[in-house]
Amino acid sequence: MKKYRRYLVTSALPYANGPIHIGHLAGVYVPSDIYTRYLRMKGADVISICGSDEHGVPITLKARNEGITPQQVVDRYHSLNKKAFEDFGIAFDIYSRTSNKIHYETASDFFLTLYKKGAFNEKTSEQYFDEEAGCFLADRYITGTCPHCANESAYGDQCEKCGTSLSPNELINPHSTISGSKPVLRETLHWYLPLDKYEEWLRKWILEDHTEWKTNVYGQCKSWLDQGLQPRAVSRDLDWGVPVPVEGANGKVLYVWFDAPIGYISATKELTQDWEKYWKDEDTKMVHFIGKDNIVFHCIIFPVMLKAEGSFILPENVPANEFLNLENDKISTSRNWAVWLHEYLRDFPGKQDVLRYTLCANAPETKDNDFTWKDFQSRNNNELVAILGNFVNRTLVLTNSYYDGKVPERGPTDENDNSVLEAIFNYKESVENNLENFKFREALKEAMNLARLGNKYLADAEPWKVIKTDQGRVNTIMNIALQITASLTVVFEPFLPFSMTKLRSWINIEQSGWNDAGKHDLLQPGHIINKPGLLFEKIEDEAIAKQIDRLLATKKANESGSSKIIPARDPVSFDDFSRIDIRIATVLEAEKVPKTDKLLRLKIDTGIDIRTIVSGIAEYFEPQDIVGKQISVVANLEPRNIKGIESKGMILMAEDKDGKLVLVAPDQRVSNGSIVK
Ligand code: 2FM
Ligand code: ZN
Repeated sequence: MKKYRRYLVTSALPYANGPIHIGHLAGVYVPSDIYTRYLRMKGADVISICGSDEHGVPITLKARNEGITPQQVVDRYHSLNKKAFEDFGIAFDIYSRTSNKIHYETASDFFLTLYKKGAFNEKTSEQYFDEEAGCFLADRYITGTCPHCANESAYGDQCEKCGTSLSPNELINPHSTISGSKPVLRETLHWYLPLDKYEEWLRKWILEDHTEWKTNVYGQCKSWLDQGLQPRAVSRDLDWGVPVPVEGANGKVLYVWFDAPIGYISATKELTQDWEKYWKDEDTKMVHFIGKDNIVFHCIIFPVMLKAEGSFILPENVPANEFLNLENDKISTSRNWAVWLHEYLRDFPGKQDVLRYTLCANAPETKDNDFTWKDFQSRNNNELVAILGNFVNRTLVLTNSYYDGKVPERGPTDENDNSVLEAIFNYKESVENNLENFKFREALKEAMNLARLGNKYLADAEPWKVIKTDQGRVNTIMNIALQITASLTVVFEPFLPFSMTKLRSWINIEQSGWNDAGKHDLLQPGHIINKPGLLFEKIEDEAIAKQIDRLLATKKANESGSSKIIPARDPVSFDDFSRIDIRIATVLEAEKVPKTDKLLRLKIDTGIDIRTIVSGIAEYFEPQDIVGKQISVVANLEPRNIKGIESKGMILMAEDKDGKLVLVAPDQRVSNGSIVK
């Protein structure tokens, strides 16, 4: 096996359009953190890179839904997620963001290098355009029926029901997410990465040279390669993202999946001036931690980008996990079906390690897995408390009571003692082998087996009985139990860093190097330990019931259709609020705007003036039915030009759960111009 001089560990950059949940943690961040902490303990030169993925249509759509800017969306979630990761002990060396200047420059330069090398195909093709909104409809801006499974709400880039990745042209009955209208085809120019040209190279690099990759990863790559690769567009007609840095590319940005993985490079640059040694030296081992939905991008597209550029190394491994479900249901941000990290940290303060433990012990390494609150409770009560906590507590309490905290000398050892001493080393080796091979569940199990062994050793040796007759024998037993305890602080450190910090302070040692685990004299005779506290506490049924009740309430809300309730927006000052001039007005005339499905042109009396407003409510009102009605109007909104008509103001509407709009109006007639306050 090749020896590497340094490691570059990347963790998928989460989209900054929602909070981090347990699915993200179990799939990507807990394993990458365990791996990085282990490497650091080995004394390796390792950096761990992550940050927010701040481009892409899901972000602009969220901004549109909430009536705020994309920048406000990413600012909100970048800070929330950065803090949650820190509080959870995910020890990235940097948590950057793709809206940084350095990222724009890096991504732009990367594109330009490929462009100048002639690595792209430039092609004009017909793409869907929303005439009402006046823009092309990239990716999730278009929905329609999936040609594979007939799901009526498939997106332009993917059907979430059957998982197939799609292009907008494949959708049956496409319509715009923005205006709901039927889009038309228009010509537009884009740049394509010709993946097909790299197929042969990829087949060798993955299918022959990386047979050691996890079966799920290797299998997905093989299936992509066997189906044959097509050129992939790396630009989009959007106004949010890194602008395509060539002339005549106005209104075009880099495809989010082109710029996001370059984010790993920009973040490294931001972290260290010496970034090139991590990216351009064959002696660096690069490992991408991702979820299974990211496999094609990290195993095929990004490597092709790196290869085409020519001066970068390629990933040595891509240990992707499968998905974690929650209480037998798919985790879903939009349905609020998740355990959110920031909420967990609030509800279970000081219990980071319990969640780290549960998520690793139950990680979806080879297949999708399920998180249940009952399992969380039983992992805590029956494993962390009953095995690890119990062993450590017995050992430290007995040492304090028999020896005033002074580590006793180990006397003559018997066969059982020797095999236990040997086992300490063997368990450390086994944890290590499993970590090296990305088998984190197994590694954790082996660490716990060392604690199990400790419990069994004490239970069999019964120092509390022997103390009455043979003090010398008890010295040996307690010395061995203390050596086990010291090794536990090492092998558990990558998994349970908060608890091991506590434990080290109780046994009064600094953090050891990885290879110290398994040694038989980590605690020298005469070394003084401190009084212990409790390493883990029982989690009571009430705390679990509270979480389950919350999920039941979510389920109920989803079933009754109120799932579209969006969270409260950021607060505004009273001054800001009072700047908005909302008035009651009466509709005088209404007519459809020609060649549109949704727009009505209304003439209204605001009490201040008679004015025209264009409103997207034609689906819900026949023009004649709205004439004479009183409505609420934002009267001081800047005029906008809609379909060539100057629209002065906006009518307030309430959206029902099924998307139907109703007027917001006074419950009895008032004079036009009345202020709504
Ligand atoms: O799937 C996701 O959440 C993406 N934001 C991951 C990006 S990984 C990398 F390429 F940045
Ligand atoms: Zn489908």
